[in-house]
Amino acid sequence: MSKIPATLIPGDGIGPEIVDATLAALDALGAPFEWDRQVAGLEGVKTANDPLPPATLASIRRTRLALKGPLETPSGGGYRSSNVRLREEFKLFANLRPAKTIIPGGRYDNIDLVVVRENLEGLYIGHEHYVQIDDDPHAVAMATGINTRAGCRHILDYAFEHAIALGRKKVTIVHKANIMKALTGIFKETAEQLYEEKYKGRIQMDTIIVDACAMKLVLNPWQFDVLVTTNLFGDILSDLVAGLVGGLGMAPGANIGADAAIFEAVHGSAPDIAGQGKANPTALLLAAALMLDHVKRQDLGDRLRRAVDQTLNLDQVRTGDLGGKASTSEFTRALVARIQAGG
Ligand code: NAI
Repeated sequence: MSKIPATLIPGDGIGPEIVDATLAALDALGAPFEWDRQVAGLEGVKTANDPLPPATLASIRRTRLALKGPLETPSGGGYRSSNVRLREEFKLFANLRPAKTIIPGGRYDNIDLVVVRENLEGLYIGHEHYVQIDDDPHAVAMATGINTRAGCRHILDYAFEHAIALGRKKVTIVHKANIMKALTGIFKETAEQLYEEKYKGRIQMDTIIVDACAMKLVLNPWQFDVLVTTNLFGDILSDLVAGLVGGLGMAPGANIGADAAIFEAVHGSAPDIAGQGKANPTALLLAAALMLDHVKRQDLGDRLRRAVDQTLNLDQVRTGDLGGKASTSEFTRALVARIQAGG
């Protein structure tokens, strides 16, 4: 079977550890990827003096497909997030973050939600500056958010189509149009127009203000199905829903555009546990399963998800963040054995 070229960015902190675990699982599955290894983030700065080297961009331009470990971004100064730049460079307008319970008996059981986050606009565009007053250069901080009708339509269309394709029942539009009347009002208004135009009768839609949504997700998450929202709210709510299914170690993400798709874990580089063999690779493994779905190998994606489930639940092999004692490599060995057993 012909190989599918794909860019591999091991990333920073725990990135190389969870990427190795994921590659071991993909090899055991016989996944069809032909990897082109590249660097970005802190590793890019160290080895190529650039957090997003031209060779990495050229690779993704060629393959249009990437699996990426987390990339470190300095807070409050330094270089701009390579993650945000990658999304902009390849116009990855949709960030898909499914959250599904794998380990039963937690605080919340039977969670099966999808957060669709707008990935290119809103308050994430980074148009920020300070205003000096007297001798304080940072006396006032300002940020500009931009949402466009076209950008809202693009992500909303994607969310409705994706929800319908997955056989979902309802799309919830999350906004803050009561306060940010223009910036997030345009999102709500576009959703309502689009629904009347194309989706009424095909799927349900409702709207909710983001703060109420956060509370309801904690009180009764089962009332939701697919949530779609603007960039910053999506960032926050997708971590919240990751918490409903056992934390960041369980949450995969896909960044989708017309010309490329980049798959990653929702979590960051976890510098506090990097290099200690403690990282939970499940989020990146589930991201790799989404990548297999994306290249129309859902058969392999399903096998990978099943093997992860069996390793965690039947074998009870779990890393520390899930209350277990297994190291990353012990978990990986158990997972590979499950894949090889054909589970
Ligand atoms: P983080 O997600 O790296 O870590 C938060 C907490 O969760 C830490 O206690 C960490 O040990 C734990 N954790 C995260 N992933 C885990 C895993 N797989 N297994 C076990 N425990 C895990 O968030 P933090 O510390 O705020 O960010 C660290 C760096 O990562 C920053 O430079 C940030 O900019 C970057 N980052 C990168 C992302 C990406 O590349 N997509 C996403 C989020 C943050």
